[in-house]
Amino acid sequence: GISLTGRHLRRELDLGADEFRQLLALAARLKAERRDGTERPLLTGKHIALLFEKSSTRTRCAFEVAAADQGARTTFLDPAGSHLGYKESAKDSARVLGRMFDAIQFRGHDQRTVDELAAHAGVPVYNGLTDAWHPTQMLADALTMSEHGERPLPEQSFAYLGDARNNMGNSYLVTGALLGMDVRIVAPRQLWPEDSVVAEARRLAEETGARITLTDSVPEGTAGVDFVATDVWVSLGEPVERWEERIALLRPYAVTADVMAGTGNPGTRFLHCLPAFHDLGTELGRTLHERYGLTSLEVTDEVFESPASVVFDQAENRLHTIKALLVATLA
Ligand code: CP
Ligand code: NVA
Repeated sequence: GISLTGRHLRRELDLGADEFRQLLALAARLKAERRDGTERPLLTGKHIALLFEKSSTRTRCAFEVAAADQGARTTFLDPAGSHLGYKESAKDSARVLGRMFDAIQFRGHDQRTVDELAAHAGVPVYNGLTDAWHPTQMLADALTMSEHGERPLPEQSFAYLGDARNNMGNSYLVTGALLGMDVRIVAPRQLWPEDSVVAEARRLAEETGARITLTDSVPEGTAGVDFVATDVWVSLGEPVERWEERIALLRPYAVTADVMAGTGNPGTRFLHCLPAFHDLGTELGRTLHERYGLTSLEVTDEVFESPASVVFDQAENRLHTIKALLVATLA
C-alpha cells in the first residue's frame, strides 16, 4: 500500500502523479470496506486539529467522520475559536498545535498560512481550501471521474466552466495536467487562471501527456467531453458586490441543458464541488433572485437534478478520499 508518512498536502503538486493515483486506489478500497463493514481502524489514538477561517459543510464533516471511522479524534476550531491570525502568528500556533496533534487541517484565505503552518508544525498539514487551491476536493473529483468514466483517467476529458481564476480553476488545471487528462478551461479571458498557474500546468503536461485548452468558447471547450464541471461565481470571502459583475461576465458559461446536450456526448456527466446556486432557494439565493431576477446561477436546476449529475457521489467521495489521506500520512 501507499505510505506518505509525515507528508503535507499544501497543494495538489505536493503529490506526484503515482502518489495521487495510489491515494485514489486506497480511497476506493476504504470506500468498499466501509460499505461491507470490514473497515479496520488504523488511526486509534491519533489527534487531528481542524482549523477553519471560513465556513464548511463537506470538508469539516468529511474530516470528522473519516477520523472517527478510523479511531482518531478531532478538535474543531472555528474562525472565532482560536488565536490564529489575530493574537498569535501561524508560526507560533503551528508549533503549539504540533506538540499536541498528529496532524492539522487548515481552511482559510491565504495560501501562505498553510505554507507557514506546514513549515513549523512538525506534523502533516492539509489544505482544506484556500483562495489558491482546493486539493482535497481534487482527490474526490478524480475518484468520482474514475468511477463514472468509461475509460482510465488519462483517456478522459473534462471542461471547467465559469470562474477559473479561483481555487477550483487552479486546482482543476494542475490536477488534470498531473493526471494526464484532457483539460478544458472554459471562461472569459479575464477569469482564466493566472499565467504562472497555466505555465506550470503546461510544463507538467509535457511530462504526463495531458492536453490543455483554455478557451472562451463554450462549444469549442465542451465538444465531446466526459465531464462538465463548474463552481460558484463568487467564492467564500469575496465581497457580495462581486455578484453583479460576475453575473454579467459569466452568464454565457452557466451549465444549462443546452450546454450538456451541446457536448455531443450522451454520456457527459455534471460535476460541482458544492454548495451550488441551482434553485436559489437559500437565504443568499433569494437575495440574488430579488436583485437580479435569475432563477439559477452557475447551473440550472434541470441539470443539477438530472441523471447526468454526479454531485452527491462527489460529496460522498470527500469522505473516502480524506480518509485515504489521513491513513496514508498518519497510519
Ligand atoms: N466543496 C466543499 O469544500 O464544501 P464545503 O465548503 O461545505 O466544505
Ligand atoms: N470556489 C469556492 C469553492 C467552495 C468549495 C469557494 O472558495 O468558496
